Parts: sequence; structure tokens; C-alpha cells
Amino acid sequence: MVPSRVWVTSDIHIDYQENFNQLMDFARRGHQLDVLIIAGDATDRLDKLEYLFDQLVPCFYRVMFVPGNHEMWIRRSDFADSVEKFNAIQALCHHHGVQTEPLRLGQYQHVWLVPLQSWYDDKQFADHTLYMEKTSALDRTDDMWGDFFHTRWPASIEVPLAQWFAQHNEAFLNWNYDAPVISFSHFLPRQELIFGSDFSRSVLAKMFDPHPEFNFTRVAGSLRIHDQIRRLGSQVHVYGHQHRNRVRELDGVTYVSHCMGYPRERQMGFVKADAREPRCLWREDTGFCV
Ligand SMILES: [Fe+2]
Ligand SMILES: [Fe+2]
Repeated sequence: MVPSRVWVTSDIHIDYQENFNQLMDFARRGHQLDVLIIAGDATDRLDKLEYLFDQLVPCFYRVMFVPGNHEMWIRRSDFADSVEKFNAIQALCHHHGVQTEPLRLGQYQHVWLVPLQSWYDDKQFADHTLYMEKTSALDRTDDMWGDFFHTRWPASIEVPLAQWFAQHNEAFLNWNYDAPVISFSHFLPRQELIFGSDFSRSVLAKMFDPHPEFNFTRVAGSLRIHDQIRRLGSQVHVYGHQHRNRVRELDGVTYVSHCMGYPRERQMGFVKADAREPRCLWREDTGFCV
């Protein structure tokens, strides 16, 4: 028996031709029974996203995708706002056979793959934010974070953006999941995941912070994702966005971040070299690989 496998990647940023080529080299290596999960940040260009889907979909049993923050940028486009673009991306996925709803995989052994739409809660949303104060520097995040310039949200959204995205998942949360669940989101679901589990490295990272005036925790994620992971009963949750590669177990959930990141991040060692290729999470013959 040839087993089905589940592969995951995120932050593929295919505007870098090197990233696109790496992913396609992997895709063409015999994955007809496999699922590829892309947890957001492929490109802000819809034409490039369409080309990516066009090339990837024939290589896999299924490709699954959730947008990241870069997909919501409306620079270099005619979209009136980011909601219009979000809807266009969902339509693009549908047109190309990219899966945006939960999928049950396997013939002999099964697993559920569940996409979660998400956004971050900034510091004003105290009940849900992953925000932590940075005491050592002035906060210039408002001037430094691209989303604040390249996205536009219509006034008709009267709830926090993270809630607006989370509402799209409600319909899936009460499905009858009769096998282990792997869920995935672009953004981080818990504050603990922002820092690695290696305490000494975390201290060093804080001491030698290259951007002391930028506070990533304002735009990292939301506890709304954590709440939905709990309601799903996920065994594994995959997230992206931070451009780090980590596996960590918290309260019975294994959290996996496997971002391809930018070429220069791999050169500098912020992103592991093996993240050039997707990571296998599950095989039909042997089960979970993490
Ligand atoms: Fe990214
Ligand atoms: Fe991101």
C-alpha cells in the first residue's frame, strides 16, 4: 500500500522565485495521494496566487489553503477593500479545486484537516490579544507594520477583525470529527508560542532584538484561534506568520510552525534550512510524524 501523507508549509512568499522553484521541485516529486497544507502568506498578487494553484493542484490529491496577512494587501490591485479581495481568493480557491473546508483523509486510517480563518487582535482587544508590553523601547509598530498601510477594511465590519475572520469557522466547529484533527491557521493562537521553549535562547533573542521599536506581539495572533482549537479538539495545530520553525506541546496540543520564510532569513539562520521543503505531519500507514 502506498500511504497518503499530510504535508505542511506556510509563508512561502513566492514573489521570491527561489521559494516558488523549491516548492515546485517538491510538488513534482510524486505526491498524487498526498495533501499539501499552505497556512498563508503565499503572495499579495492574485495573478501569482492563481498561477501557484494552477501548478500545484495537479501534483497533489488535495491542496488546502488559508490566507495570511499578505494575501489581504490590496496594493498593486484594483480591489476596493480587503474583504473584496478575501472573497476573490475564496472564489479562486473554489475555481481551482483548492480545499477551504475540512477534509477527512485516509482509507484505512483517518485524519481530519480543518482550516481556520484568522487575524490578530491588537492590544486594545484585551480579552483576546497576544500583546506583551516591551518596556525597553518606544513602540513604533504603527509606522513599521505593512498591514496598516496595505490593507483596507470596510466600515460595514463592526466587530474586531479577528472576530470577523473567526466567524467564518463557526460552521465547521460542530462537525462530527470521528478521527484525530489537524487544524491550521496563519496566525498564532497562544502567547507562549511567540518565544521558543529554549529559555536561554529566548533571553538572548530579547537582549539582541534587531527591532526594539517593533512589537510583534501586537500583530501576532489571537486567543480566538486558541478557543476554536479547543472546541475542535485538535491533536495538532499548524500556524505560520512568525517565520520560525518550532514544534511544541502545550496542554495536550502539538503546535507546529514550519515557515519557508524569506531566502535571507534562511541564510541568516532565523528559518531552518530544512523548511525549504514542506514537513510531513501524518502518514496513513504510521499515523502522526510529530
Ligand atoms: Fe510571512
Ligand atoms: Fe504573516
